[in-house]
Amino acid sequence: MVSPSSFVEAFSQRFPQAPAPSLYRAPGRINLIGEHTDYNLGFVLPIALELACFTAVAPAAGGMLRVYSVNLGLTREIPVAELAGALPAKDWSDYVFGVAQQLVRAGYAGSACDLLVGSTVPTGGGLSSSAALEVSTALALLGGRGIGNLDLARLCQRAEREFVGMPCGIMDQYISIFGRQGAAVKIDCRSLEREYAVLPADVEIVAVNSMVKHELGSSAYRERVRECGEAVAVIQRHRPEAGSLRDVRRQELDEWKAEMDPVVFRRAAHVTSENERVEAFMEASRGGDLAGMGRLFVGSHRSLQHDYEVSCEELDFLVDTATGLPGVYGSRMTGGGFGGCTVNLVETGAVTAFEAGIAQAYRDRYGITPVFYQSRPAAGASQIG
Ligand code: GLA
Repeated sequence: MVSPSSFVEAFSQRFPQAPAPSLYRAPGRINLIGEHTDYNLGFVLPIALELACFTAVAPAAGGMLRVYSVNLGLTREIPVAELAGALPAKDWSDYVFGVAQQLVRAGYAGSACDLLVGSTVPTGGGLSSSAALEVSTALALLGGRGIGNLDLARLCQRAEREFVGMPCGIMDQYISIFGRQGAAVKIDCRSLEREYAVLPADVEIVAVNSMVKHELGSSAYRERVRECGEAVAVIQRHRPEAGSLRDVRRQELDEWKAEMDPVVFRRAAHVTSENERVEAFMEASRGGDLAGMGRLFVGSHRSLQHDYEVSCEELDFLVDTATGLPGVYGSRMTGGGFGGCTVNLVETGAVTAFEAGIAQAYRDRYGITPVFYQSRPAAGASQIG
């Protein structure tokens, strides 16, 4: 399914009347550090993955935008003329039609076509399968019509916020577009500038999929966004110019602690300290300080676990187990939380034993076999055929 030729073949079987399709790829991501900071206009440090969503597209007759999901074996369609006012169906097709709607609203006229989408990014794994779907769909529907990369990232983010109804930050769409082979990308989510970071040699990035996804994820996400807004409202009484938690250092927060609801204070403590951890991680990485990088990973996890409260028992177990294994520098949950993956910094040469140790412990405890993704930073989205 992943090779371009087999994907094109699948397209021709599904849509026998269609001309030869064009093919686009957009990657998923692992966020190394900087969690729940993007919608607070702070810093994140993701890598794009080889795991990706592939979209094949060809023009069609009949006025419909039709999409077939290889992973689900399902087709959805909508008249192109109805795109502008379409409402979400509350399923996977919302990512596709949400992007199509945003394109129409941005002045890119829609036309009838057939799409075939297939993804190697696991859904619900916290590796951003949705942004990969959005970005590969957007490129396919643009079909070579020019758009700036930042505009493309913002457009896909709008599709998710306005159509899917998830008040996400910009990280996932941004890294899917701006990913670079061999480098992590530090994104300043306020200026939208980026800096590339090559990690020290002799360390592998290994994601471990807990294979669980707890349902409260999206409502808790909304709640966290709201709580961060509450923290900013308190801060603005004293510092009217502070537009987001990005504008505040962790230490400064203590001044306003008495005025904040204790839960809101802990949320703000996470975000402000996490921004500082991203900067410290960059510094440690530049200096080849693997132990320091690992400590920042674990610090990030503890903050997400106790202050931001977006972890879960299974993720905590994976982190605690990982940090007790030889050759592991650090471990933390990655992505929105409540299940999905941990990301681990593991000494090259220790990866096989790490995976065996984790698999054994996780199976013994939960009866679930975790899935591993050993990941090198890959390139961002592009046309591949
Ligand atoms: C989800 C969102 C991102 C980001 C992460 C948490 O993946 O889509 O914008 O907020 O959660 O860091």
